Amino acid sequence: MKGIVLAGGHGTRLHPITLGVSKQLLPVYDKPLIYYPLSVLMLAGITEIQIISSPEDLDGFRRLLGDGSSLGISLSYAEQDKPRGLADAFLIAADHIGDDSVALVLGDNIFHGPKFGALLHRTVRNVEGCVLFGYPVRDPERYGVGEVDERGRLVSIEEKPARPRTNLAITGLYLYDNKVVDIARRLPPSARGELEITDVNRTYLERGEATLIQLGRGFVWLDAGTHEALTDAGQYIQILEHRQGVRIACVEEIAWRMGYIDREACFRLGGRMSKSPYGRYIMEVAKNGIEKQPKEMGISMP
Ligand code: G1P
Repeated sequence: MKGIVLAGGHGTRLHPITLGVSKQLLPVYDKPLIYYPLSVLMLAGITEIQIISSPEDLDGFRRLLGDGSSLGISLSYAEQDKPRGLADAFLIAADHIGDDSVALVLGDNIFHGPKFGALLHRTVRNVEGCVLFGYPVRDPERYGVGEVDERGRLVSIEEKPARPRTNLAITGLYLYDNKVVDIARRLPPSARGELEITDVNRTYLERGEATLIQLGRGFVWLDAGTHEALTDAGQYIQILEHRQGVRIACVEEIAWRMGYIDREACFRLGGRMSKSPYGRYIMEVAKNGIEKQPKEMGISMP
C-alpha cells in the first residue's frame, strides 16, 4: 500500500500564523504537525509516501524530511498549485499510487490511541473498497458525518451538514483500493468547485464497498485547523508526554521500532538534535533498547 500525506491549503483559519509558514510545519508541542499524520502511515507499515503541498511550501517539507532515507522510508513530493479539494490528491499522486492500494491522511490530523498501530497494520493488509474511520465529536457539522445502522454498517455520509444526523465525524484517514484513482477522475466538482473526498466515499458507499471503523471513546482524534484546536493539541501532547515519559509520533523512534532503521541509526538521528530534549529522548530510547517499548504502540519489536 502507498501513502499520501496531504499538506496543502492556505491555512486561512490560522491567519496570520500561516501567512509565512505552512500549517503542517507548525509546532504541536515538541514537533512539527506533519510528524503526527506521517507517524500514522509509518505505524501502518507504509514506507512509500508522497507529500502533497503548495509550491511555496514544498521546500520546507523537503528541508525537514528529505527523501526519507534517514528514516528508512521513501518520501516523494508533489505540488498542488491550487486547493482543488482533497480528492485531487489521487489525481496528483496517480503515478505514485500506480496499481497499488493507497492510504490518504490529512496533514493536520492527529490520532492517538491504544493499539492503533496494530489496528492499522491489520487493516491495511487487505483493503477492498474503502475503509473510513469514525469518531464521535461535539460539533459534527464541521466535518464529514457518517450514519450507521444498528449493525454498525455505514448507511449515509454527508459533508459538513447544517443538521447532522449523527455525531460521528469521518476522520482524515482514508484507505482505498486502486479504484479510487478512477473514481476521482470521473468525479464532478462540487458547488464550491472542488473534488470532494466525501463524494469519493459516497461512490464506494453506493457500491456497497465502504467500511467504517469506529474509534471508541478511549481514543483521541484531533485536528489542528484552528487556533484553539492547535493549542489544545499541543497541550494534550505535552501533558501525556510529561506524565508518561514517552514521546508521541516520534518518527525517528517509530522508524527504529518498525524495523525501518537499526538502533545505531536511530541513535545518530537523536544525536543530530542533542541540544533539544526531543533529540536526547531519541538517543536514550535507542541506547536503552527494548525495555522502554510503549505498549500503546501495539507493535511488536523488530
Ligand atoms: C476535511 C473533510 C471532512 C473531514 C475532515 C477531517 O474537512 O472534507 O470530511 O471530516 O477533513 O479533518 P476540512 O478539514 O478540509 O474542512
